[in-house]
Formats: sequence, structure tokens, C-alpha cells
Amino acid sequence: MDLHPDLEPLAFLIGTWQGWGHGDYPTVEPFDYEEEISFQPGPGKPFLLYTQRTKDTHTGEPLHTETGYLRPAGVGRVELVIAQPTGIAEIHTGGVDGTHVHLRSAVVEVTPTAKDVSDVERHIEVDGNVLRYRLAMAAVGHGLETHLQAELMRR
Ligand code: HEM
Repeated sequence: MDLHPDLEPLAFLIGTWQGWGHGDYPTVEPFDYEEEISFQPGPGKPFLLYTQRTKDTHTGEPLHTETGYLRPAGVGRVELVIAQPTGIAEIHTGGVDGTHVHLRSAVVEVTPTAKDVSDVERHIEVDGNVLRYRLAMAAVGHGLETHLQAELMRR
């Protein structure tokens, strides 16, 4: 089925990406992870389905996973909704400049037993078949600080 025309500015993201990342935060031991990300268009619909899974580089143990939808929201604008099995839900608004997507949470909600997260910033940059992202969060009593940086290749 044809790509919905509203998705053309986001078409550079479509595909499956694999690579490695590094994680950090003032409260955790630095860690390394392997990651697979996929952005797939909804059939004829104006959204990209986003899925992500990771595992520990050293032990192979599954780490974080998350799922969501990236939605074009008018010229140069984008919205993202994400759910995490750790009880965290993010709603972002942001922009697209060329192949750079920058997102800042409008709302972060957590379930009663989840870790406290109040703000998230996500930057995704695609250069040909290379995708790099970084994520900062305000969590567990700290302000916005980097939690993740990764580089993935289109498969
Ligand atoms: C590639 C994706 C991610 C990986 C591999 C990852 C991995 C980790 C690891 C290994 C830890 C330390 C051990 C632990 O507490 O479980 C951690 C802590 C944490 N992560 Fe992530 N994480 C990811 C994404 C996220 C995202 C998207 C958020 C929130 C928006 C998040 C929020 C947190 C919080 C709140 C903590 C606990 C900090 C603390 O209790 O001191 N993580 N993460």
C-alpha cells in the first residue's frame, strides 16, 4: 500500500535499525546495550509504528523495551506517544528539521509502582543508513540529564 502523503517528511526513519548504545545517569552504573529499533508505516495511515528492544551487551539479558507511535502534526511538527512496560507513558511534541527529529515530553505519567520520571527529551538524527539518538530524562530527583546515546545501522 502507498505511503500516506503526510508521512513523506518522516520516510527517512522507515526501516529496521540495529546497533549499540551506552547508558548512564547519576544514580546508575554506566551500561552498554545492543538495540533493535523499527519504524513502520501503518497501512495507508498517517503514523509510524515504533518498536524497540534492547539487551545487555555483556550478558545478553533483555533490558529495556518500548512501543509507540510517531505522528506527523503539520508542517515540520511531530508527535510521539510511547508506553514502557516499566509503567511509564510519554507524550511528546516536537519538530523535524531535515533528518533531525527533536522531541520534548508534554506529559510523562507513571503508574503507582513505577520509578519517578517527570520530563524526557529525545533527539533522533539520521545520516543515510546511520541513526543516532540521545535521550535525557528528569527522574528520581534529578533534572534533565543524559540517560542514553546510541548509534544504529539500517538493516
Ligand atoms: C535503550 C533503552 C534503555 C535502556 C537499555 C535502559 C537501561 C537502564 C538500566 C540498565 C538502568 C539501571 C538499572 C535499573 O534501574 O534497571 C536504568 C535505570 C533507569 N531508567 Fe533506563 N533504560 C532505557 C530507557 C529508559 C527510558 C526511555 C526511561 C524513561 C523515560 C528510563 C528510565 C529509567 C529510570 C527512571 C531508571 C532508574 C534510575 C534510578 O532508579 O536511579 N530508561 N535504565
